[in-house]
Amino acid sequence: MARSKKLRIAIVGAGKVGSVLGKIFVQHGHTVTAVISRSVGSARAAGRFLRSPIASTALRDIPPGTAVVFIATPHDAIADVARGISRLDHLDFRSLAACHTSGIYSASVLDPLREKGATVFSFHPLQTFPRSFSPVRIVPHARGIFYGVDGPPSGVRMARLLARELGGNVIIIPPEKRVLYHAACVVASNHLTTVLWIVEQIFRRVRGDRAKVYEVFKPIVEATLSNIALSSTGEALSGPIARGGVETVARHFESLREFMPELLPYFVEMSLETLRIAETKRSMDRGTADAMRHLIVSYSPSPSTPQETP
Ligand SMILES: NC(=O)c1ccc[n+]([C@@H]2O[C@H](COP(=O)([O-])OP(=O)(O)OC[C@H]3O[C@@H](n4cnc5c(N)ncnc54)[C@H](OP(=O)(O)O)[C@@H]3O)[C@@H](O)[C@H]2O)c1
Repeated sequence: MARSKKLRIAIVGAGKVGSVLGKIFVQHGHTVTAVISRSVGSARAAGRFLRSPIASTALRDIPPGTAVVFIATPHDAIADVARGISRLDHLDFRSLAACHTSGIYSASVLDPLREKGATVFSFHPLQTFPRSFSPVRIVPHARGIFYGVDGPPSGVRMARLLARELGGNVIIIPPEKRVLYHAACVVASNHLTTVLWIVEQIFRRVRGDRAKVYEVFKPIVEATLSNIALSSTGEALSGPIARGGVETVARHFESLREFMPELLPYFVEMSLETLRIAETKRSMDRGTADAMRHLIVSYSPSPSTPQETP
């Protein structure tokens, strides 16, 4: 399919992902032929947002001539939707591409469509689309992102074309490791949020008020991300664990034990992982690293034998 060809895209699942990516397609000159959702309210709202002539709850309203079916439903609905579309006699499956946006499922969930001759692939946007944000607010963050893809060669080719049309890139994920890949996405967004929530809890305990925590910590957070992007996690790591400052780390643990003992399990696990990074950059000698590990593990709620580096 030539790059300049404008696509006719039907979106199934009128939620955040469908609305946001649909909007970028429309902004790039493509047409949304139909928005199909579980409830008519969602379908109509997204239909207006995407200037779609059809907003419906029925898959049969996907019009003939649609080139791409973009399934952006929750992942447990994808198989049913794929089966439902595969029964539509008015679609020309040989010239139809179909994808879903789940990070967990591979392209094989679209087998009913592949068996009819459609080009299938998974197309997971590696970005966060928070439920409480309006699509308009999310659109800028959905440009220039990666899409986790698997599928037959024809599907991967189509995925590359769609990603390019969305201003993004494709990253191929082996189907058997897709759930592991999704776990990495969870760490990158959800766990990062949790880490910042812990910063918030500690800082509120320090100040005793509801100070604007993120404003205060934004420079250090952003500099850390920028340093990692410019070098690597190893090179960007600073602080007492990287320096082998056993005494400082001991004082942190003592302070946590006094003021926020509930955070000790978190602090133990994260400190052990931080020590693993420090060891890869060999910023301390073996004896200091072992002393650090013993100290950290001694604060574990259920002390276990520390694992020495082989
Ligand atoms: N949110 C994220 O950060 C994110 C990031 C990457 C990938 N994803 C994946 O992208 C997909 C969509 O996520 P989302 O955040 O956009 O979810 P969402 O906001 O909950 O939207 C899902 C939409 O699908 C509709 N739907 C549910 N069952 C359906 C069915 N059987 N037929 C047609 N429509 C149906 C819902 O319908 P009604 O509103 O009409 O009831 C809802 O509008 C999921 O697979 C998710 O895992 C999400």
